[in-house]
Amino acid sequence: MGKIFAVTSGKGGVGKSTVSVGLSLAFTKMGKNVLLIDMDEGLRCLDVMLGLDEKVVFDLSDILSGGDISNSIYYSEQNPLLHLIPAPCELGKINSQQLQEFTEKIHPFYDVVIFDFPAGIDFSLYASLPNNTLFLTVAFPDPVTLRDASVVSERLEKIGLSSKLIINGFDYTLTKRKIYNNIDDIIDKANLQLLGIVPRSKELSLLAVKHKLKSGGKAMLAFARIAKRLLGENILLPKLKKI
Ligand SMILES: Nc1ncnc2c1ncn2[C@@H]1O[C@H](COP(=O)(O)OP(=O)(O)OP(=O)(O)O)[C@@H](O)[C@H]1O
Ligand SMILES: [Mg+2]
Repeated sequence: MGKIFAVTSGKGGVGKSTVSVGLSLAFTKMGKNVLLIDMDEGLRCLDVMLGLDEKVVFDLSDILSGGDISNSIYYSEQNPLLHLIPAPCELGKINSQQLQEFTEKIHPFYDVVIFDFPAGIDFSLYASLPNNTLFLTVAFPDPVTLRDASVVSERLEKIGLSSKLIINGFDYTLTKRKIYNNIDDIIDKANLQLLGIVPRSKELSLLAVKHKLKSGGKAMLAFARIAKRLLGENILLPKLKKI
């Protein structure tokens, strides 16, 4: 059965969509076929990040209201293993019952399905996801976004959903200069299981312009480590200055 991940966070702008795309690119590099579903109703962005925005006509709401699924799936010739379903442009178009039925139908066709959710604690659609969904909570290595990540994770746990932490925007120079806490303190503070660390980088800030990541670059290596862990491989955290 395919793996299902839901990317979430407490605070906005911590890199959920960047992580969703980065992980998708890493999975496709491993030969997996990936379905990326943009759940950010009204503020969709994955079509732009993947350079598919010019093509988009239909979205998730068209599928949920009975439209042909293939009309709402977009991909580029450069990476035909990565399929995108864009989010609706307006709020209130995703019905949880319809989402549940659609997800059950589609996920067996993919090795990996990734839902990129908006930030915050509106969990109304989470119960529509299959039972084996793993939530990936994204935070920066700072006390504010980390505290919100732990709030999200506690609330997920209360409703029986499990989550792991991805630290995004890690800058070794700040840790070295003791501006940020060391990584153990970060993990303790969030009270979450750490899945991986993604560096802050110019390359990632330009993802929406370039639509790809350099093989062997620090960002791709970080996403590849996380993707392998998500597939059950035991990959150790590298030395912090290598991240
Ligand atoms: N590791 C990183 N290094 C550099 N820039 C980054 C990194 N991660 C994200 N960014 C930049 O930060 C901004 C916000 O990222 P992104 O849209 O992925 O966040 P988000 O959590 O999905 O936001 P939202 O809550 O609005 O959905 C973008 O401009 C993105 O390019
Ligand atoms: Mg986003």
